[in-house]
Amino acid sequence: MLIDDLKTARLSAGLTQKALGVRIGSDAQAIKRLEGGVGSMRTLMAVCEALDFRLTGLGPGETLGEQLRHRRLKRSLTLAKLATRCGLARGTVAGLERGDGSVASLLSVLAVLAPGVRRRAPERSYWGQRDKRDRDVRLTPPDFMETIYAAFGEVDLDPCGNEASSVVARRRILLGEGGDGLRDDWSGELAFVNPPFSALLTWLRRAHEQWSVGNVRTVVCLIPVRTDSTWFHETLAADADIFLLQGRVRFLDLDGRAQATPFSLMLLTLGATPEQRRRFQRATPGFWLSRDAE
Ligand SMILES: C[S@@+](CC[C@H](N)C(=O)[O-])C[C@H]1O[C@@H](n2cnc3c(N)ncnc32)[C@H](O)[C@@H]1O
Repeated sequence: MLIDDLKTARLSAGLTQKALGVRIGSDAQAIKRLEGGVGSMRTLMAVCEALDFRLTGLGPGETLGEQLRHRRLKRSLTLAKLATRCGLARGTVAGLERGDGSVASLLSVLAVLAPGVRRRAPERSYWGQRDKRDRDVRLTPPDFMETIYAAFGEVDLDPCGNEASSVVARRRILLGEGGDGLRDDWSGELAFVNPPFSALLTWLRRAHEQWSVGNVRTVVCLIPVRTDSTWFHETLAADADIFLLQGRVRFLDLDGRAQATPFSLMLLTLGATPEQRRRFQRATPGFWLSRDAE
């Protein structure tokens, strides 16, 4: 079940086995094996991190190992008792709690410890009754785009474009034309990214990777204030500038109707100059997070 969910998460992020393999520093074969229930817990955890795949039904903990331990203690089981119930050695269960071991052992432990464990639904938001066909289709309103053009300049690339969007970009990557912003090379001076929020981390990783290799000079992302992933803290925190928006952007649906946005938003930029950031600050209520503290 869990393994099936992993495959579904990969496909909905638009990733091939090869692309996901590269993302975790491995190869397509490792992903293929994992999707067949074979592999190491470390590979599994790397894939979960890459896909922003979280579990519900285990309990709190920074890592899967910690969550297992928490769940075992909550159920008042010793390592030895749990191992006996799963038909594993005590050391194997202890290893899993440290993040070591095989996926097969992990699945045996989960079957006993937390049979109801499943993927936590990706953090989607409610966009109103009318457009449940695809809640990831939210078009950036033209007035917000005006502040983007005025502060950052003309947009060269919209890597997750929509035919109905008013975003003016020299190049739009459109699914409907066979494009894929998660695979095609990005290009130009400035990319504006209002990504599908259901695969937010995947898009941020892609933006960071394309910016790091120099395919785009500046990236401006309009995204929810969701900053809890390890990757965000280890990588983006060092490279990105963040502007917390006051008030909420009202995205448009495909019929041009404004939708209430039920959470806070931020602008995340990579490679923006101080002058560009100052111009945005002057035009928009909110503030740039300071990096002064050491
Ligand atoms: C939130 S909308 C933003 C549309 C437009 N960029 C804007 O700001 O108005 C995200 C769009 O990305 C498209 N999309 C999803 N996956 C994509 C992919 N892999 N490559 C290109 N576009 C994708 C969706 O169809 C959707 O239209």
